Amino acid sequence: MSLRDKNIVLGVSGGIAAYKIPMLVRMLKKAGANVQVIMTPAAHDFVTPVTLSTLSGRPVITDFIKNKEGEWHHHVNLALWADLMVFAPVTANTLSKMATGQAGNFLLAVYMSAKCPVMIAPAMDLDMYAHPATQNNLKTLASYGYEIIPATEGELASGLTGYGRMEEPENIFNRILAHFKKKVVWQAGKFW
Ligand SMILES: Cc1cc2nc3c(=O)[nH]c(=O)nc-3n(C[C@H](O)[C@H](O)[C@H](O)COP(=O)(O)O)c2cc1C
Repeated sequence: MSLRDKNIVLGVSGGIAAYKIPMLVRMLKKAGANVQVIMTPAAHDFVTPVTLSTLSGRPVITDFIKNKEGEWHHHVNLALWADLMVFAPVTANTLSKMATGQAGNFLLAVYMSAKCPVMIAPAMDLDMYAHPATQNNLKTLASYGYEIIPATEGELASGLTGYGRMEEPENIFNRILAHFKKKVVWQAGKFW
């Protein structure tokens, strides 16, 4: 199935799994999607904006303000442009801000303005993932109607083994394809 003409906002936050996101961008672009990557400031420590802008064919956005002349990125317009927002990887920090409706960076402001479906692929160390706060945040986000792509079990960057690995990019890509195959249409917080 093609993703031609589908507008996807891909939100990348500051987890080690961000190094896998270039592969996801490549798959989405090959399938024909328009991909706008938004990074949190912390994500820059894990993958470069140059890599992601080259693969997506669009400048990556991190900050509201573009330059010293005061031009700014329009978070509301970008939110309305999106047919789907995908968060991968999502840190414990960004997850909790999404669950509580905080808008302290550009990515979160786009998220708060979006009316489109949202997919969330968390990634963190096993104890952060198992923490009741994280699990409650995931439940809250699922209750908003968002699709959670659960973390998988395996070896983690810390050297520990357990649940917390971001789902592999191929599987996230397949979830995105499956989403666009759905016959139902998501609008205003309900399936119609
Ligand atoms: C090497 C390293 C790896 C990290 N990996 C993760 C991670 O996988 N998941 C996570 O939730 N936080 C991770 N963190 C912590 C986040 O980078 C930190 O909480 C940051 O404030 C997240 O900001 P953001 O949510 O705005 O991107 C890591 C930090 C370091 C130094």
